[in-house]
Amino acid sequence: MRKMFPAEELARDSRFVRCEPNQSISDPRRQGAGRTQGRLDADSYSSAERARGVMHGILVGEIQALEGAGRTCWDFEVGDGPDQAPYELKLDMARQAWDEARHCEISVKLAGHMGSEIGEFAESTFLYEAACHPDPVLRLAGANRALEGLAIDVSNTMREFGVQGGDPVLTYCEDWMLADEVTHVKMGSNWLRRLTDGDPERRKKALEFQRVVDKLFSFNGLRGEEADSPVQLARRFRELAGFSTSEIDDIADMSAEARAEMVVGTPDPS
Ligand SMILES: [Fe+2]
Ligand SMILES: [Fe+2]
Repeated sequence: MRKMFPAEELARDSRFVRCEPNQSISDPRRQGAGRTQGRLDADSYSSAERARGVMHGILVGEIQALEGAGRTCWDFEVGDGPDQAPYELKLDMARQAWDEARHCEISVKLAGHMGSEIGEFAESTFLYEAACHPDPVLRLAGANRALEGLAIDVSNTMREFGVQGGDPVLTYCEDWMLADEVTHVKMGSNWLRRLTDGDPERRKKALEFQRVVDKLFSFNGLRGEEADSPVQLARRFRELAGFSTSEIDDIADMSAEARAEMVVGTPDPS
């Protein structure tokens, strides 16, 4: 079995629609190029359509989180070197893979519950790509802190959506998955601290990589703390997962900047 499995070869059946590999992650078409030609921006999406798009993004994200955690169990020899992973880290990733497999089953049922189906929106494999870094510390910083951190924000937003819509199925499913996502981020925070203890250079590189992934996933500022941000930054749950206040402030600032750039860069339709 080969190591560092390429994203283009991930197993998907004919229902899945893949984004063009050369499309930038910031290109809105990457978010909505499936059978629904919608754009993931607040103005052109109805709230129900946006919620279905977010739900579909969660579903493919869960599949890739499962694939990424599974790869980390396999891709590294056991050890403490820069290209090795301690056995306990692999155990954490195996536990996460089991959680993500459960999330896949829940999410595909929830997508159906919300009137969506596999392939309504396109799948970008960026999450999986971030989970394939050759240094396990950078892999955990990108996948378990940046992307699982985003999973916290998205799960909490969907849970709130369920509460507001009086939908107990959505509310409780997201609440259970949110609890798991907090654990996954906490694993990333713990391993980042442990593996870079006494190695400030490696820690700096890991945090820089995390920031790059966070920035790429700021979704043109759609995640944020404004009242109309489609995905709300979940400060309380991020604190529980080991993020410092300054780290959360940094993510909020990045999102606000991305939003401002998006507004400035939007052409006048008249
Ligand atoms: Fe998950
Ligand atoms: Fe997760």
